Amino acid sequence: MSNGFISAAYVVAALLFIFSLAGLSKQETAKQGNLFGMIGMAIALLTTIFDPRVSNVFIIIVAMVIGSGIGLRLANKVEMTQMPELVAILHSFVGLAAVLVGFNSYFDAGHQIIITSVQQVAMNIHLTEIFLGIFIGAVTFTGSIVAFGKLRGSISSSALMLPNRHKMNLAAGVVSIILMIVFVQNGGSNLPLFLMTAIALVFGWHLVASIGGADMPVVVSMLNSYSGWAAAAAGFMLSNDLLIITGALVGSSGAILSYIMCKAMNRSFVSVIAGGFGTDVIIDEDKDYGEHIEVQAEAVADLLRSAKSVVIAPGYGMAVAQAQYPVYEMTQQLINKGIKVRFAIHPVAGRLPGHMNVLLAEAKVPYDIVLGMDEINDDFPETDVVLVIGANDTVNPAANDDPNSPIAGMPVLEVWNAKEVIVFKRSMSTGYAGVQNPLFFKDNTQMLFGDAKETTEQIFRAL
Ligand code: TAP
Repeated sequence: MSNGFISAAYVVAALLFIFSLAGLSKQETAKQGNLFGMIGMAIALLTTIFDPRVSNVFIIIVAMVIGSGIGLRLANKVEMTQMPELVAILHSFVGLAAVLVGFNSYFDAGHQIIITSVQQVAMNIHLTEIFLGIFIGAVTFTGSIVAFGKLRGSISSSALMLPNRHKMNLAAGVVSIILMIVFVQNGGSNLPLFLMTAIALVFGWHLVASIGGADMPVVVSMLNSYSGWAAAAAGFMLSNDLLIITGALVGSSGAILSYIMCKAMNRSFVSVIAGGFGTDVIIDEDKDYGEHIEVQAEAVADLLRSAKSVVIAPGYGMAVAQAQYPVYEMTQQLINKGIKVRFAIHPVAGRLPGHMNVLLAEAKVPYDIVLGMDEINDDFPETDVVLVIGANDTVNPAANDDPNSPIAGMPVLEVWNAKEVIVFKRSMSTGYAGVQNPLFFKDNTQMLFGDAKETTEQIFRAL
């Protein structure tokens, strides 16, 4: 394969990646966007493998067959609710790959003999690329593993509050910069590189561990961005233009997404990426919220029958219970009785951006009755019944009323302004952010305990 052909193929792949991002920005064209991305990646892989500078193609193909086998199996097995975990662990692979590429380039570069000052400058640049690539890769690697553990529930989702945590983060950054200067000035030496790698691994772990559950959506998209920059750094080390372009696309789109999510959740972007800086809060676990009122499915059916306007606020629990199908059947029943039914979607309901929209689309709920938080929040005072189905943090009034709450300031669905609120969940336990919800104890709220799919089916039958 000639160099000209390789460059042309890389340009085509890069264009397809840009089309892919453009396609993914709208629900209707998302499938097409995915297809562009897949074709682009196939072109990129084939071109790289058949590049004449690449040797041991057989080993690469064997590794790819094993990797694709594992990937296919995992992707087929994964539940929609586990998708963010899968994405987080995949980011960790990108981070690890960048670390390995960095060490590989470093040991390779060690053999070069410097004669001219131009070669010296080129060498310095290369060493800086190696250092930064390994740093970003190591932070992404351990950070993504912690994110994976938090999303999976194997690591506590609440923020780790070590004393002097911000000073430790700052010290890790400053020491790494000093080590980089020593590393480059010495023309590359093992000790600063290994020391920085150890610091970056601990730094990545600590950075994500100290971010609370409610900010996890932003963390996942931030790690997505980091993994892009790690790939771009690997591209510089390997002098691979396509890897640089792809890494930069992923890095910048991840950063933009993190920024948009921070704005939607009224969070400071800098505070989240700096490991929850400025968000120290004390949770009062002994606070008395009062008594809650319990209700049965038949009584909820009676309430719905007499309602004129109903809003359904779904959350993570609806996804776990796979209740979207009976929820839509119940919705159709209510619409047939002349009741106005709409869905209220919080931007971070569930465990990944657009989670609820995907579930409702799966159940064939028409788009026009699915409204975003800003579109529906003012309508709650005129709503007779709100059904909160497996949502918790996204309907928590403490976000508005309690400045000490970990979710203080986050915009929420103001469901408590409706005449009656029914909360579908299995117990009084907290949501993802780990904070109690005063909504459950309000006079106009009743709790319908049980698996959301079963309780919705009971209401459906009673109706
Ligand atoms: P959560 O606050 O996590 O609450 C979900 C509720 O569903 C829980 O309180 C749980 O209570 C209930 N539940 C679980 N399984 C159920 C079942 N089978 N039947 C009925 N109820 C069930 O959910 P949310 O309101 O959707 O908020 C999302 C949270 O996740 C936010 O804190 C958000 O920041 C975070 N997060 C979001 C994302 C994205 S991008 N969307 C990513 C990561 C994290 P019981 O156990 O008592 O049933």
